[in-house]
Amino acid sequence: MRNLDEHTITQAVLARNANTSDERLQQIMTSLVQHLHAFARETQLTEQEWEKGIEFLTAVGQICTPTRQEFILLSDTLGLSTLVTAQNHKKPEGCTEATVFGPFHVQGAPRYDLGQDISCGLPGVPWYIKGQVRDISGAPVPNAILEVWQADDAGFYDVQKPGLDPHDYQARAILQADSEGFYHFKTIVPECYPIPHDGPVGKMLQAMNRHPWRPAHLHFMIISPDHERLVTHVFREGGEYLDSDAVFGVRSSLIADWVEHPAGLDPYGLPCPTYFFTLDFDFVLNPVSR
Ligand code: BEZ
Ligand code: FE
Repeated sequence: MRNLDEHTITQAVLARNANTSDERLQQIMTSLVQHLHAFARETQLTEQEWEKGIEFLTAVGQICTPTRQEFILLSDTLGLSTLVTAQNHKKPEGCTEATVFGPFHVQGAPRYDLGQDISCGLPGVPWYIKGQVRDISGAPVPNAILEVWQADDAGFYDVQKPGLDPHDYQARAILQADSEGFYHFKTIVPECYPIPHDGPVGKMLQAMNRHPWRPAHLHFMIISPDHERLVTHVFREGGEYLDSDAVFGVRSSLIADWVEHPAGLDPYGLPCPTYFFTLDFDFVLNPVSR
């Protein structure tokens, strides 16, 4: 195949890619090539702009480490993560909605018993969280596993803190709901935070005149053998950035009251010398279709 030009190159690449036996790969690569070429044609992309794009993607790759995932940030800030989440988690009305996973989940979080404090002594306003995991019929989902992770009261995750050993987990936990699906634990109230913006994705946001902030939230991943895995957040009613989340993750059904209480007895009947917050949030899981 010779003498390809702007009119014939797309078909030539598609023909060259036609020999894979993996049908899904074939479909994805065909669509990717068609859309990339259409993008270059539509924008009449210049060589300098193409070079800039390559430099940008190179920088995105180069800043990645085991704890810094710039490609996820890129996907999140372009809305691709929310699109993929939305199209893969269409659920019956009444199920808890999913939202973006984000880059700050880590494997191997410590296990805690129900009622324990997962904050590892971080300073902050005490927060008592409880709720029930149920299925779409309203029946409790017994013994579901809940993974929880959150930022601290300055808006940082443990993995973002220089000098902290990767095994010094803070404010992340694995808990198991009881036989009636109930769960409860103590932590501290997380703050809003900017997504990491000292790299190429931050530069992109700045160039687009966008802010990097996320509204305050708590992450949950809920796993039960007969149900679809739920990856979601609980956001704070009345909090900042609910309508301009840098990663487009807010859903109205995931916004809840984080209720403030004066100093006094905490929900466990123990004295709490400072004001504290409570959150009551139930999760409704979608059964897996078999
Ligand atoms: C997060 O909520 O942890 C998050 C999600 C997307 C980008 C950055 C952080
Ligand atoms: Fe987060």
